[in-house]
Amino acid sequence: MCGIVAYLGKKQAYPILIKGLQRLEYRGYDSAGVALLNGDITVHKTKGKVSDLEEYVKDKKTDATVGIAHTRWATHGEPNFKNAHPHYSQSKNLAIIHNGIIENYSTLKEELISRGYNFESDTDTEVLINLIHDIQDKEGVDLEAAVRIALNQVIGAYAIVIVSNEHPNELIAARKGSPLVVGIGEGEFYLASDATPIVEYTKNVVYLEDEEVAYLKLGEDLQIRTIKNQTKTPYIQELEWNLGQLEKEGYDHFMLKEIYEQPKSILDSMRGRLNAAKGIVSLGGIVDYEQKLLNADRIIMIACGTSWHAALVGEYLFEDLARIPVEVEYASEFRYRNPIIGEKDAVIAISQSGETADTLAAIELAKEKGATILGICNVVGSSIPRTTHAGTYTHAGPEIGVASTKAFTSQVTVLTLMALRMAQLKGTIPTSRFMQLLTELGSLPQKVEQQLKTEDNIIEISEEFQNASNFLYLGRGFNFPVALEGALKLKEISYIHAEGYPAAEMKHGPIALIDENMPVVFIAPKIGNYEKIVSNIQEVKARKGRVIAIVSEGDTIVKGMVDYTIEIPNTEEMFTPIIASIPLQKLAYYIAVLRGCNVDQPRNLAKSVTVE
Ligand code: G6P
Repeated sequence: MCGIVAYLGKKQAYPILIKGLQRLEYRGYDSAGVALLNGDITVHKTKGKVSDLEEYVKDKKTDATVGIAHTRWATHGEPNFKNAHPHYSQSKNLAIIHNGIIENYSTLKEELISRGYNFESDTDTEVLINLIHDIQDKEGVDLEAAVRIALNQVIGAYAIVIVSNEHPNELIAARKGSPLVVGIGEGEFYLASDATPIVEYTKNVVYLEDEEVAYLKLGEDLQIRTIKNQTKTPYIQELEWNLGQLEKEGYDHFMLKEIYEQPKSILDSMRGRLNAAKGIVSLGGIVDYEQKLLNADRIIMIACGTSWHAALVGEYLFEDLARIPVEVEYASEFRYRNPIIGEKDAVIAISQSGETADTLAAIELAKEKGATILGICNVVGSSIPRTTHAGTYTHAGPEIGVASTKAFTSQVTVLTLMALRMAQLKGTIPTSRFMQLLTELGSLPQKVEQQLKTEDNIIEISEEFQNASNFLYLGRGFNFPVALEGALKLKEISYIHAEGYPAAEMKHGPIALIDENMPVVFIAPKIGNYEKIVSNIQEVKARKGRVIAIVSEGDTIVKGMVDYTIEIPNTEEMFTPIIASIPLQKLAYYIAVLRGCNVDQPRNLAKSVTVE
């Protein structure tokens, strides 16, 4: 939700800021802007994408070595010119970019209006910068102090960067709830919502903690103080990412690249954790918490979006393999429903970005009640891994496409490893079976590769159904969450309405929708409840529904009944979510491309949802 970038150094700031905004565009893209400091502060901003901003700025002067920039996902006020960031203070001496929501902004705004301030935008951000200005004025303090005093009055979330024409060699930044990373170069500083805009310039970064304010001054070391004015020692970390991971590398879209990266990302999620020959599964990050998990009354998995679907697969895996009761909760529901949770419960929070506001809030709630909290996250150094007691990274690499693909299969891989480890410790499955499962799990990257290399008919199917208005996705058991995820992928990027259902539930409602215009995608591998799903397919065909079925290699029964089949390699039923989700990602991708949709940046969505 909103991407922020800033630069302070000796290079030209504008090209760095624009490139940075492009890297962060997955966070929001309804308006964009820059503020450049060269004597005065000049703000250029426009509705639309970063490319629109570039076009708008094309003939303007951009000479400056200090600047801040923003790409927005609207919260307060519609996406238009006046609400785009950066925002000036009324004096035009200060400009700010902001990611987050100031919840008490209307009270603060009324107060400022009564003190003679006028506002050009509908945003909470403009309120904050004028509050800072007002404190400077009223209390006669310097900007550093004014920022701290203002942030003590603010309720809500923020990552902010402020530039001042009275302090041309400085930037001030702060965070609470929304992420912010400082990059430390040679005599220069970078700031960004995540490390992607920074990685090509420096690998040395500091992730700010909540309620920390960073003071960046040319020629000085980075200084950090809390909003209560306590000095903190910056903890400099080295980035593991490389630039290639942030480029499309010949693919038309990041999403397609990320789909094709899955053999590697799944392998990376297992690397150093699975030794099938020796019967070892070990997740170093949670080793000290294994007993807590094992002895927990129940495990509650909390997540949002695609990560919630991974949690559902996790529920099936943990219950089946380790016989530990699991509940899966939408983080947004959990946090507001006074849940019964205590010290004997373990919570597993799952998040690609590690920044999702609802998931973070649900973690805080469970923590207050004494539960043990573990995380499964992709982005190293993000907020969730820093809030949980322990956790495991998925190591899927940066995921840029807004619709999650490789992060999902990596989350499921890590959950599988965890469930197998619990089963081993609990002795809930015989050793021979355990060894067999480890070997099969180890073969999944090759099977996924095989699936991706197989000449399939997904483009032909996409052409056939690109104009459909609705889709149903049906699966049973482990593949019920896959049906949900397949439907989510399609609606996210193609804007076709799609619903996922447990196949047997079809007769309790969705069957009423089926006619010759309704495409129904079945996940029907030849394992588990295969016969049952064959019956469900017959029920759809009897009503003239058009069926696309994901089937096991060599299946002839379903092939003879349906309109289209897509084959997947044979595997254990519990591992099919990892393989079967891949053709569904491709189906959504090609349909969206054929419909002319912006696959990597679907309308209204953002990759990292840092507001509730
Ligand atoms: C957004 C993204 C989804 C993602 C969800 C949860 O809605 O568009 O792709 O699944 O947030 O994000 P998280 O980073 O917590 O997994």
